[in-house]
Amino acid sequence: MYRIAAVGGDGIGPEVLNEGRKVLEAAAERFGFGIEWVEMDLGAERYLRTGELLTEEDMELLSSCRAIYFGAIGDERVKPGVLEKGILLTMRFHFDQFVNLRPVRLLRGIKSPLAEKGPEDIDFVVVRENTEDFYVGLGSRFRRREKKELAMMRELYHAKFGIDAESDAEEVAYQIGVITREGARRVIDFAFDLAQRRRKRLTSVDKANVLTEVYGLWREVFSEEARRYPDVQTEFNFVDAITMWFVKNPEWFDVVVTPNMFGDIITDLGAIIQGGLGLAPGGNINPAGVSMFEPIHGSAPKYRGKGVANPIATIWAGSMLLALLNEAEASEAVMRAIEQSIAKGVVTRDLGGGASTREVGDEIAAGVLGGGC
Ligand code: IPM
Ligand code: MN
Repeated sequence: MYRIAAVGGDGIGPEVLNEGRKVLEAAAERFGFGIEWVEMDLGAERYLRTGELLTEEDMELLSSCRAIYFGAIGDERVKPGVLEKGILLTMRFHFDQFVNLRPVRLLRGIKSPLAEKGPEDIDFVVVRENTEDFYVGLGSRFRRREKKELAMMRELYHAKFGIDAESDAEEVAYQIGVITREGARRVIDFAFDLAQRRRKRLTSVDKANVLTEVYGLWREVFSEEARRYPDVQTEFNFVDAITMWFVKNPEWFDVVVTPNMFGDIITDLGAIIQGGLGLAPGGNINPAGVSMFEPIHGSAPKYRGKGVANPIATIWAGSMLLALLNEAEASEAVMRAIEQSIAKGVVTRDLGGGASTREVGDEIAAGVLGGGC
């Protein structure tokens, strides 16, 4: 019996999560385990009603679960950043989910927008660092009035660049990226371990030619780790260049490890080359703690309640959740059932079909139960 928190959240989140839960329940029935759902009421509705984002009780409840199954967060009535930082990022940080695992795989039957690339060409995994970099929230914005901070910035500017910022610095905003040796080591180690179990090729992403401090440290740690895995072939890519290679030669990649913000950016690119955001799952993983699984798409408020959202990203995230629980057979059966539903043409309109969110969920759940998968 696994205790799993269910967080539907905002927009299309609750709809796609329902289908994901349906499929996990089918897998539980077929493979002989149980799921105890812990329903969590988090997101915009509650925030607007009570002002609460994540309370201490919420955290305790989440901590008592084996994993978190997450829909989406974000609502047009709330200022950007409030829900994202107050719920999603808080969970990632609180549970120290330092790996954001994002498979980029073109499923059979799906057409990539990359002409002439098929499922044999697009099959890699992005390991995104998930707790550091520009996501740490260190920064500020101030005006001339706030003399102390401004004087400090002026001094910094002068010392570093010889610039007298007095006249230009009426309003200043800055935000700081942080990489720690241990933070880099643990995620890079995870990526090497994964590469060793796949095609033994690992690409590191950075911008060490400009952001020399933070990504200089990242590179140093990568090189040190590489010595411990002599059987894994390694390379460095600058982030600007890798966006080009993802499009031109996706078949080159096996495992890609990246600092947080670049990982955010390149995984949306990954999502589109695997057929769209409706097909891209992610796992926020703490191998020794509470992990969280979610589609990487957002809450898409304009599609809320319309029954048109593609639930496959969420269902695929559910398959990743099962893999984490060591229910390997169930996890694989879910993936086969997804591919079977695509082969039968039971797909939502983003994939050119006419099926509703619920019909796709029903079809995949039936595939898991039917034993054909
Ligand atoms: C993602 C999202 C989040 C991120 C936002 C919603 C905070 O874009 O999971 O990729 O930037 O990590
Ligand atoms: Mn993103």
